[in-house]
Amino acid sequence: MIDTIKEHLTQVENFSSTSMDEIEAFRIKYLGKKGLLNQFFAEFKNVPKEEKAAFGQIINQLKNTANAKVNDLKAELENHTEAKGVYGDLTRPGHPIELGARHPISIVKNRIIEIFSRIGFNVSEGPEIEDDWHNFTALNLPEYHPARDMQDTFFIQTNPDILLRTHTSSVQVRYMEENKPPIRTISPGRVYRNEAISARSHCFFHQVEGLYIDKDVSFADLKQTLQHFTSEMFGKSKIRLRPSYFPFTEPSAEVDVYWGLETETDFKMTKGTGWLEIMGCGMVDPNVLRNCNIDPEEYSGFAFGMGIDRIALLLYQIPDIRLLSENDVRFLEQFKSSL
Ligand code: PHE
Repeated sequence: MIDTIKEHLTQVENFSSTSMDEIEAFRIKYLGKKGLLNQFFAEFKNVPKEEKAAFGQIINQLKNTANAKVNDLKAELENHTEAKGVYGDLTRPGHPIELGARHPISIVKNRIIEIFSRIGFNVSEGPEIEDDWHNFTALNLPEYHPARDMQDTFFIQTNPDILLRTHTSSVQVRYMEENKPPIRTISPGRVYRNEAISARSHCFFHQVEGLYIDKDVSFADLKQTLQHFTSEMFGKSKIRLRPSYFPFTEPSAEVDVYWGLETETDFKMTKGTGWLEIMGCGMVDPNVLRNCNIDPEEYSGFAFGMGIDRIALLLYQIPDIRLLSENDVRFLEQFKSSL
């Protein structure tokens, strides 16, 4: 009897299969209710007393080996199936993929860049820590010019020549110094102004400024470009230009887009007028061109500048500008976009 069991033990040890059906048949043969093991256990009472110990030991060994074998083969089969990319267990829950969100400032900025790059503008960047020349003097704002007060500036205390740029017009100066016309460039970036922080204004915000310099560029070109932009950006092409003043442009204008007065939000956004102020613009002052070594007799151009934060607040109806810089995930994760 013990010899028969030993033979089975060798068979069990040598058994191998990659078929679930075969493994199951093997399990039933040894471990099933009417399987061999139960038959051997039933035999136990007939075994002579002095053989009982050895007999018990060998059937227990058979039982453990068979159990281990079945478990090993099944586990191996499962691993194997997964490695091969065959569907494994279809009822298993999937791994959720968290989609990242872009910052609303980036979404609006990328959209503006996209619109202007389609009509031939490239993107230029410059330093946030500027010198007086690029931020003011070259832009027709010499020392003691009263218009310097329009932009409350953060100076670096130890050196009044170094400051945090108050607009990205400084990048346009740098671009003109380094490139010959025709120039078509937009300059997105962060700017700083020494203003009290409130729901409406912050001491830093973001701008996109644009510059176009070539022969015979006229105010009509400026208006057409802006109209194209507003219709692409907001789906609204009715704009108006109100006379304004900037030291670096002449003539200068403030651009309003007609938003409409159809909904309560329109009414709130436009303070009941239907018009929304979105940017400043004008024809580049000849003094600025001269400062950047461009001959104003030969070339003319236009420039414009808009605040990204303001546009983001409008488009997404964000009630407080401070939300844009607080990095609260609950706020940020609401902006899923492909841009
Ligand atoms: N630099 C101006 C500002 O920061 C915007 C502007 C740019 C106006 C170009 C006219 C032309 O307010």
